[in-house]
Amino acid sequence: QQSVITDKFGRALQDLRISVTDRCNFRCRYCMPREIFGKDFTFLPKEHLLSFEEIERLTKVFLNLGVRKIRLTGGEPLLRRDITTLIERLSHLQGLQDIGLTTNAVLLGKMAEDLKKAGLKRVNVSLDAIDDDTFMQINDSKVRTQPVIDSIIKAKETGLGVKVNMVVKKGMNDHQVIPMAKFFKELGVTLRFIEFMDVGQTNGWDFQYVVTKKEMYDQLSEQFELEPVDPAYFGEVAKRYRYKGTSTEVGFITSVSESFCSSCTRARIAADGHFFTCLFAGEGLNLKDILRGGATDEEVRDTIVSRWKYRDDRYSDERTEESARNRKKIEMSYIGG
Ligand code: GTP
Ligand code: 5AD
Ligand code: SF4
Ligand code: SF4
Repeated sequence: QQSVITDKFGRALQDLRISVTDRCNFRCRYCMPREIFGKDFTFLPKEHLLSFEEIERLTKVFLNLGVRKIRLTGGEPLLRRDITTLIERLSHLQGLQDIGLTTNAVLLGKMAEDLKKAGLKRVNVSLDAIDDDTFMQINDSKVRTQPVIDSIIKAKETGLGVKVNMVVKKGMNDHQVIPMAKFFKELGVTLRFIEFMDVGQTNGWDFQYVVTKKEMYDQLSEQFELEPVDPAYFGEVAKRYRYKGTSTEVGFITSVSESFCSSCTRARIAADGHFFTCLFAGEGLNLKDILRGGATDEEVRDTIVSRWKYRDDRYSDERTEESARNRKKIEMSYIGG
């Protein structure tokens, strides 16, 4: 039976984000700058990654606790060997209602059909500019926008749900807000603008780089008529709007200007099996060692339950200049966003 567990603020455990690798084929300046994630950077060795068996086992435990929605992330999840096999295994699990993946889409075009066949329902594609020069400056990997756009179209044709995520950072790509909106409105694909967040220690965050939802909304309103759309479920991250007279949506993820911690129902597992109850956490609970130490499903379950019951995270509600600068936080490429 489904037993819904709640944390100190009464928030249920509903979604699980699983990072399957800490590696990425991009070096986005705001996420994995080359100065830090260069040749000498040590990524997780293979033996520290959760195996598919371990991921499946943990997922079953979480589904038994009431989780309904799973999202695979990275780094870049499509770099994980045989990822379609993992999706196939997870998509058959009882109780699962939704399984999605967040990707930079470089490898998505050629994998879309297999992913769909394996049972994947949705992909969220990260694309921060429609202009090649801006995009290449950001990804620092000489990839142009066309391969990403081709992947988006391919994924859509395959029948996968597709949304596009654009992290907006002042001076980096704020001039791309309108061009991106125009492009994806035309294509009929939902675009979500994400306020630049202070994740990790290395992304050089400062409040002056944040473009707030209000600023973007005002800019968009000059060009388009927008009408609000109700959230699809409790705790939905994005604030949604529709271009009037169409069925195409645009959204905002407002972690900085309008935090949404009070409805945060998300748990995260890093690629090495550490369990986190907040994107901005400093430390996780090592589930891998518990699994490998021979714990029973019951014991794993109890560990998760007691951790969730203790949960009092609300980082974005409490963010200050001081916490943004000095608090120890895990990296985005490790926790998966
Ligand atoms: P959908 O199920 O399609 O709504 O996916 P999603 O928006 O939950 O996931 P996605 O991986 O596309 O994330 C979009 C952005 O929202 C990323 O920048 C995430 O880091 C951010 N995000 C997701 N969940 C949280 C959260 O709990 N807290 C904060 N602060 N940001 C989050
Ligand atoms: N702030 C907001 N979003 C970020 N992402 C990566 N780093 C940041 C940041 N500092 C986004 C990625 C991807 C999603 C998982 O998180 O671009 O779309
Ligand atoms: Fe860029 Fe996403 Fe890779 Fe980070 S994980 S470097 S945001 S593509
Ligand atoms: Fe949830 Fe932490 Fe994000 Fe708040 S900051 S919404 S608690 S993950």
